[in-house]
Amino acid sequence: MKLFVYHTPESVPPGSPDCAIVVDILRATTTIATALAAGAEFVQVFASLDELERVSNSYPIGSCLRSAERGGKKVEGYDLGNSPLDYSPDRVKGKGILLSTTNGTRALQRVSQAPQVLTAAFVNLGIITDFVRQHQPETLWIVGSGWEGSFSLEDTACAGALVEQLSSTYQPGNDEAVAAQALYLTWQDKLEGLFHQASHGQRLLKLQGETDLAYCAKVDLLRVVPRQQEPGILRASPFPGE
Ligand code: MLT
Repeated sequence: MKLFVYHTPESVPPGSPDCAIVVDILRATTTIATALAAGAEFVQVFASLDELERVSNSYPIGSCLRSAERGGKKVEGYDLGNSPLDYSPDRVKGKGILLSTTNGTRALQRVSQAPQVLTAAFVNLGIITDFVRQHQPETLWIVGSGWEGSFSLEDTACAGALVEQLSSTYQPGNDEAVAAQALYLTWQDKLEGLFHQASHGQRLLKLQGETDLAYCAKVDLLRVVPRQQEPGILRASPFPGE
């Protein structure tokens, strides 16, 4: 079995793997895991705000929260931005979340045709590797969201953590997988320090995002598998023993 790492949605080749895992540590996939663990019914992702607005009108009033981020900031007029710390059970339990972010939601759209699509972050790393070990997809793509088409340290470090944890079953299929694993092994004990060096980490620090960086660096805080049920819609997948 082989796994491939792609640093950005733009570098994903044509075709489709058996399973794709999308990573956007700062902060979309950390937020998705947090929202579903807090009892949100589903997270539906949109690359554009226009599309989010159009679809939000088709849901019963009060059943969904509209969430949007651009450039690290909450978009004015929306219920929530993209800080995972805002997705507490009292805010999101029983609600659908309609989410649009700068890069993470575009990465999800890029692989939405794969038969199995998951999202991973450090906060739910362990259960994602347990899920992959149980389902054993033959080809696995790990797709970083990056920042507007370029590489981001934090997504590649998480991709490397997945490569490392799956190394007894999966062979690296490209050089990016080997490089991601090396990055993770260098920084595994100082992830928050890595986020402080990362360009998007620095952007969030300028926006008072220090507590978000600390939260996004927590490993295995949540036992939730966000899994695409239909294109663009993620729900918490049942997992035996959870
Ligand atoms: C993104 O999709 O680019 C991010 O999750 C941005 C953020 O909210 O920090």
